[in-house]
Amino acid sequence: MVDVDSFITEKVTEIEDAVGDENAVIALSGGVDSSTAAALAYEAIGDQLTAVYVDTGLMRKGETEQIRETFSYMDSLRIVDAQERFLDALGETTDPEEKRHIIGEQFIREFETVAKDVDADYLVQGTIYPDRIESEGTIKSHHNVGGLPEVVDFEGIVEPMRDLYKDEVREVARELDLDALVAERMPFPGPGLAVRIIGEITAEKLEVAREANHVVEEELEEYEPWQALAAVIGKATGVKGDNRVHGWVVSVRSVESRDGMTARAQEIDWETLQRIQSRITGSHENVARVVYDVTHKPPATIEYE
Ligand code: XMP
Repeated sequence: MVDVDSFITEKVTEIEDAVGDENAVIALSGGVDSSTAAALAYEAIGDQLTAVYVDTGLMRKGETEQIRETFSYMDSLRIVDAQERFLDALGETTDPEEKRHIIGEQFIREFETVAKDVDADYLVQGTIYPDRIESEGTIKSHHNVGGLPEVVDFEGIVEPMRDLYKDEVREVARELDLDALVAERMPFPGPGLAVRIIGEITAEKLEVAREANHVVEEELEEYEPWQALAAVIGKATGVKGDNRVHGWVVSVRSVESRDGMTARAQEIDWETLQRIQSRITGSHENVARVVYDVTHKPPATIEYE
């Protein structure tokens, strides 16, 4: 990229020319790529663009609020509260791949509803250069929104950042005043907290997982992990106050990695681990135990499902 200002000017014109008088949609994931593509496209075509954020209920703590705040200037922003529909669709499903599939399908259904509603002819995507060259075997290979172009019949797809690297996207984001999103953020899987809950997804397990992930991200920031996370992995007996409880077991995991293909579990000091334990067991009456996962990848994966 030669220069951020001229890149933005050039892309704004390109998007205007591509979309013309038609309407366009973009799916916001909460990450920097889709957010930057949305801001860029909005600069070009204003409210002809509908940015769609589907609140699946599987997102990190505060994610929906952050989207609402960051894009409050877009009149056409659509935040779809689909939490109950995702929970219903997942029902009692326990198989990891089946859960991923249900989430992907439901996402497409939610997005398609809005795309039809606003009569969208164009799909804007935040695809960047590494997504295109690493389409196999890496993080984005199983990303939920990958199937959108095939499912919804668009006249065209606009990918303004298809030749940019991540650091260049961050430069553009900064220029577009998306400062809150520019800070290095850990990768977060498309199916969200669903891959951090073993077995059936319930509202209570989600509540525990969301808070525990928040605690872990906060406490382990200084270790600069590739990813730090918490998963609800089962139930075990504990004592809370004077009562024995059969409560959730939360596993904390923090790994360093270059590309997610292999990973090393990080060594965390005892005091920090104890603080995490205390915050997580204190966060919900039904959390009985916190354990720390010392397994590298391989043989484990980074996520739990
Ligand atoms: P695993 O668990 O396979 O994770 O070691 C490797 C990297 O991929 C992410 N991951 C996903 N990302 N959809 C995604 O968008 C998924 O279904 C998915 N599963 C795992 C994971 O967070 C890690 O960065």
